[in-house]
Amino acid sequence: MNIQHILSEKIKQAMIGSGAEQNVEALVRQSGKPQFGDYQANGVMGAAKKLGLNPREFAQKVVDNVDSDPLIEKLEIAGPGFINIFLNPAWLSEQVQTSLNDEKLGVSVNQQQTVVVDYSSPNVAKEMHVGHLRSTIIGDGVVRALEFLGNKVIRANHVGDWGTQFGMLIAYLEKMENENASEMQLSDLEAFYREAKAHYDNDSAFAEKARNYVVKLQGGDEYCRTMWKKLVDITMQQNQRNYERLNVTLTEKDVMGESLYNPMLPGIVADLKEKGLAVEDDGALVVFLEEFKNKDGDPMGVIVQKKDGGFLYTTTDIAAAKYRYETLKADRALVFSDTRQSQHMQQAWLITRKAGYVPDSFSLEHQNFGMMLGKDGKPFKTRTGGTVKLADLLDEAVERAGKLIAEKNTNLTDEEKQAVVEAVAIGAVKYSDLSKNRTTDYVFDWDNMLSFEGNTAPYMQYAYTRIRSIFSKSGIDPDTLKGKINLTEDKERTLALKLLQFEESVSVVAKDGTPHVLCQYLYELAGIFSSFYEACPILNAEDDIKQSRLQLASLTAKTLKQGLELLGIKTVEKM
Ligand code: ARG
Repeated sequence: MNIQHILSEKIKQAMIGSGAEQNVEALVRQSGKPQFGDYQANGVMGAAKKLGLNPREFAQKVVDNVDSDPLIEKLEIAGPGFINIFLNPAWLSEQVQTSLNDEKLGVSVNQQQTVVVDYSSPNVAKEMHVGHLRSTIIGDGVVRALEFLGNKVIRANHVGDWGTQFGMLIAYLEKMENENASEMQLSDLEAFYREAKAHYDNDSAFAEKARNYVVKLQGGDEYCRTMWKKLVDITMQQNQRNYERLNVTLTEKDVMGESLYNPMLPGIVADLKEKGLAVEDDGALVVFLEEFKNKDGDPMGVIVQKKDGGFLYTTTDIAAAKYRYETLKADRALVFSDTRQSQHMQQAWLITRKAGYVPDSFSLEHQNFGMMLGKDGKPFKTRTGGTVKLADLLDEAVERAGKLIAEKNTNLTDEEKQAVVEAVAIGAVKYSDLSKNRTTDYVFDWDNMLSFEGNTAPYMQYAYTRIRSIFSKSGIDPDTLKGKINLTEDKERTLALKLLQFEESVSVVAKDGTPHVLCQYLYELAGIFSSFYEACPILNAEDDIKQSRLQLASLTAKTLKQGLELLGIKTVEKM
């Protein structure tokens, strides 16, 4: 249940009943301060202005027109015409009880869109690096939120598996197979790529062969196709290991690489030409876009086919957008990639729309993100200046978390300890990324992300185990709790309201592609629980109060666990 939506709808209807237009917005928000109520409607002033009415008088009219509802205790008009909304504690306690008994914790599962999510998208014969890390984990968090709310998600791993580089890669794979067929190793993709390129640059016979293989591959030659497939498979097997370690939901089935669209490109380019969108310019086919200016202030030209007949990254993205609408029947398509690709995406999609391949109702969204920086504020690199391999980064995380947990004096078995180390290590790397607004660059800092204080994975995981230990230490099974939840103390009420706002934060993640909103929510929830726990004794309280508070604690634990799971972060029972 989404309280914000319910209230928005109610206030909106009252505004319409008071003379406002049908499309008026109530602008209901969670209040920052308790004296302003639990929620605030801020839309009244704007609506009154439009109607030429005194805002406070209009606000009074709106308040009078709100149907009475068990949800609302009282409405107050404040300042120039804000409406402060106070919720009814009896209603809150009833809802908390319902959420506790619901598998989905009271979250409504009524969204029914088909959403294509293009994320991770590494390149073949290249190691996944930290740049792909952001796309992978942010994208996966959004996928989980979308699915949790009921949407159908189609994961599209837009792997870079096509292009002229495959000529040299095939030629080099062949060379390796001929030389040491038995111990053919492709474990170091980065070195493989580098070697292939070195041969291509320095050995003219090799280069000739490579160019020949490109033509053959594009022509569908069986041998080249098989060699190409081998390269794709080896790369994706390695990536799959990263996905599993990262607790990311992508599988081999989700690969929808650039090669999928390749057969569609000649038709698209011919069509763009026929529609007069693409014109010949110096041998290439170019779409000039008024909406983008080049450095001379003229419409920017976007090449869709090169002089030599080759297609481009943009051409593929036009085809992908069309395919996602036409064939996959999606309502939305999200692409998670670096901010530096924003202009590219906008241009590809503008051309897609101009060509009439998708209707206005089809939403194309670039969920861009900033760079991951080192502590020196420069792009994150290894000590020697190379790109950091994802697998190495995760190894280091495990090593560091291992040391951290070993220092702690816990009475865990070795096996339990190992599980904690894995959860903390991977959780820390993911959470430090997910908890930042994705559009800004962020500094990758081991000490911060592994701290047990602040908005970090270890803190959140620890907060969860602390609540669970209330149950394990007292031997109380949370599934046997009974009696009514009573919200008599302020801290109880605050906690209950926060618990009921879970869906609001998940909905924002699904709509805006911003997992940090959920991280912030969970962090605040953990803090609110702590103050509640300090102020309201649980185990020593009288039985009915104890049962009531234990139920609040139980729902808090469940919400933390579920929330972290939506972020792809594991919890443990003890740490
Ligand atoms: N493979 C690209 C890269 O490594 C990312 C692809 C993003 N998706 C897209 N449809 N362009 O930068």
